Amino acid sequence: MTDSPLATATAQILKAEREPGLKPVVKTFFDETTFTASHVVHDPSTKTAVIIDSVLDYEAASGRTKHTSAEQIVAYVKAEGLSVAWQLETHAHADHLSAAPWLQEQLGGKLGIGADIVRVQEVFGKIFNAGTPFARDGSQFDHLFRDGDQFKVGALDAIALHVPGHTPADMAFIIGDAAFIGDTLFMPDYGTARADFPGGDARMLFRSIRRLLSLPDQTRLFLCHDYKAPGRDTFAWETTVGAERAGNIHVYDGAQEDEFVQMRTTRDAKLSLPNLIMPSVQINMRGGHMPEPEENGVSYIKIPINKL
Ligand SMILES: [Fe+2]
Repeated sequence: MTDSPLATATAQILKAEREPGLKPVVKTFFDETTFTASHVVHDPSTKTAVIIDSVLDYEAASGRTKHTSAEQIVAYVKAEGLSVAWQLETHAHADHLSAAPWLQEQLGGKLGIGADIVRVQEVFGKIFNAGTPFARDGSQFDHLFRDGDQFKVGALDAIALHVPGHTPADMAFIIGDAAFIGDTLFMPDYGTARADFPGGDARMLFRSIRRLLSLPDQTRLFLCHDYKAPGRDTFAWETTVGAERAGNIHVYDGAQEDEFVQMRTTRDAKLSLPNLIMPSVQINMRGGHMPEPEENGVSYIKIPINKL
């Protein structure tokens, strides 16, 4: 295998299969307003935890934020006696605001995202005319992950894989036998994420997905969103590589790249933008921080007219 990050990830997953103590405990908090699954992942032996893709509640009409969703995470972490090592973002989300800075204040942990966030900052910094106070070097984050970066969550092995396509900076974080894959794949009956945001690329997405699907069949996959497929009444956010290979409606084994690109592009052209894209992108490109307050001490969200 020439893809060495993939080989390392595969070995890590197989090791966790042999030694069940190396499998993380995963608790998911699902936000039905933005259909986002936030995961708290921990090593049972050391109680070291990682929080992935947290949600800051935001009411568009009033411009008010609330911490109701994030408070549930704080309560769980405290009740379980966990110590938080990382706050991770699989990518700069366009449909919800990140609660990572607030959770960092409550619980600690280093804030990490993919290194290509700088490309996202470049593109959206221009679109929102963010000016010089907005650094486009990823410095809002404590750590920028590159493909193949290995790290530890307590006694558990972890590795980051770069899986661009939905955005240029998407990462999958694999902890023990569990892969947190953001918006690459959705549940098998729902398919895949859109690839039409600035810097997105359907062909790249297909290749990233096929790379993830070459991990062992039993790899647990945890998704960032679910929208309930037609005919399904409950939200779901966990599946396996084997289940996706067998049954994902877009990228099952045997699916053809050109056909996928055609399908994804046609479908994306009909999708409207997420309700919260304006506040989400402006805040998430800043690592979850509000834009610099104006001289009256208030932060504002911009809306570019006829631009997106
Ligand atoms: Fe997303």
